[in-house]
Order: sequence, then structure tokens, then C-alpha cells
Amino acid sequence: MKSKRSLIFIFLLAVGLLLANSIEPDTSNYKVLTNDLPNEMTSEQAFHKMMDVLTHERCVNCHPKDNIPKQGDDSHPHYFGMQRGDGNLGYEATKCTTCHQTENNPYSGVPGAPEWSLAPSQMFWEGLSRFQIAASMMDPERNGGRTPEETLHHLTEHALVLWAWTPGVDAEGNPRELPPVPLDEYRAAVEKWFEEGHIIPTE
Ligand code: HEC
Ligand code: HEC
Repeated sequence: MKSKRSLIFIFLLAVGLLLANSIEPDTSNYKVLTNDLPNEMTSEQAFHKMMDVLTHERCVNCHPKDNIPKQGDDSHPHYFGMQRGDGNLGYEATKCTTCHQTENNPYSGVPGAPEWSLAPSQMFWEGLSRFQIAASMMDPERNGGRTPEETLHHLTEHALVLWAWTPGVDAEGNPRELPPVPLDEYRAAVEKWFEEGHIIPTE
């Protein structure tokens, strides 16, 4: 008697599971946000997400078209007439690292990260379109002879790149603006773009 009842119970359970499986959930009302899932991003979407960061002043201020580093969200010329100098490190008496330490200084507003210096002149990005910046970045004549793997590594690991997401406050104590894409999303986009053959879309 007891075992018969449990058989019926198992039977009902099985029918229930079958029925549940055959009912398709209705997803027609859901909006699927594929843009934020790196695996579903197209190479072109990944490119634009990456370039939204590379065209931001946190990067471009240090990749100027002249010898003058830029400052702030409005990219004004560096105070004190600061210029490139020997080896992009500033002039003797005013080396970049005299003021720029390995960390941001929250009191003086001087930003800091290891090996703070100006990007060499052939790596200038200021004034270029996102397509031109990408072309320059992938060109060994202008990118310091880097292979695509080395450029990928630089973009996702280098201290001066990562600084952009912890940029600290300026001399007036106002926080500097962050790049428009969160770091993990940016990294996923960069990896995706390189994985897909680093193709620069046509304008
Ligand atoms: C404090 C100055 C500074 C900031 C800020 C900075 N860079 Fe650079 N960047 C440099 C210097 C210096 C080099 C040259 C390093 C080398 O060749 O070893 C460089 C080189 C590069 C290179 C390799 C050269 C090339 O053209 O491909 C890439 C890529 C790059 N930076 C990306 C970025 C990105 C992305 C950001 C912002 C998220 C950024 N940088 C912010 C100073 C800076
Ligand atoms: C005399 C001290 C001093 C020296 C030397 C100096 N800086 Fe600066 N730098 C500052 C201060 C202060 C700020 C912050 C100004 C602000 O944002 O209000 C700053 C800001 C910057 C910024 C702005 C970052 C941003 O995105 O807003 C960059 C880039 C920069 N310096 C690059 C350099 C480079 C490259 C050198 C060497 C060629 C250099 N600096 C030498 C004091 C100095």
C-alpha cells in the first residue's frame, strides 16, 4: 500500500516536470542588452568602446601633439610652462618626477603613478580621430615597435593607463573625470577587439 502511494507520487512528479519543461518562457517583453556582454559584442562595438576611453583627456593629456603636457578636463596647457625636455622626462631642474610621485597626492592635487612621463612625440594622439589614433597605436613605426600582443598588454596592464581610473583630485581639490567606460568593461572590449584581429572599422 505504502509503495503504491509513493509510485503514484513519483508518477505525478514526473508529469509535472514534463509539463513545466514544455512551457516556453515568454521573453518577448525583455530587452536584451548585448552591448555589455563582451562575448556578444561585435568587433566594431568593442572598437568603439575601447576608443571611447583612448580619446578621453585622461589619456590624451599625456599624448600631446606638441611638447606640452595638458591638464584637466578642459586640457589646458600644463602650468609653469612645463615642456617635454630630454627623454620626455622634463627639463633637468623640473623633472616630471620632482612633482609627480608614484601615487596621487591628495593634498597638492599632483597626480602620480610609477614612471610618470610624457608619451614620446611619435605617439601623439591629440587632435587625431579615433580611427587615426588606432592606426597610430598599431603602427610599429609610431608605437615604439610594439607587437599587437605587447600593445594589448600595455593597454590592459600599464600603470600610466590604469591611473586613468584612479585619477585623484586636481589642485583645487575637484575629482578628475573618469574615462567613460568602467575598467573591467574596457579591458573586455580591448581583449575582444584584439582577439577578433584588431580591425579598424572604416569611418
Ligand atoms: C602620465 C602620462 C600618461 C598617461 C596619463 C597615459 N599615457 Fe600612454 N604613454 C605614456 C608614455 C610615457 C608612453 C611611452 C611608454 C613606452 O614606450 O614605454 C605611453 C605609451 C602608450 C601606448 C603605447 C604606444 C602606442 O602609441 O601604442 C599606449 C597604447 C598608451 N600609452 C595608451 C594609453 C591609454 C589608453 C591611456 C589612458 C587610459 C594612457 N596611455 C595614458 C604616458 C601616458
Ligand atoms: C612643478 C611641479 C610639476 C612638474 C615638474 C610637472 N608637473 Fe605635471 N602637474 C603638476 C600639478 C600641480 C598638476 C595638477 C594640476 C591640476 O590638475 O590642477 C599636474 C598635472 C599634470 C597632468 C594632468 C593630468 C590630467 O589628466 O589632468 C599631466 C598629464 C602632467 N601633469 C604631466 C606632466 C609631465 C609629463 C611632466 C614632465 C614633462 C610634468 N607634468 C611635470 C605639477 C608638475
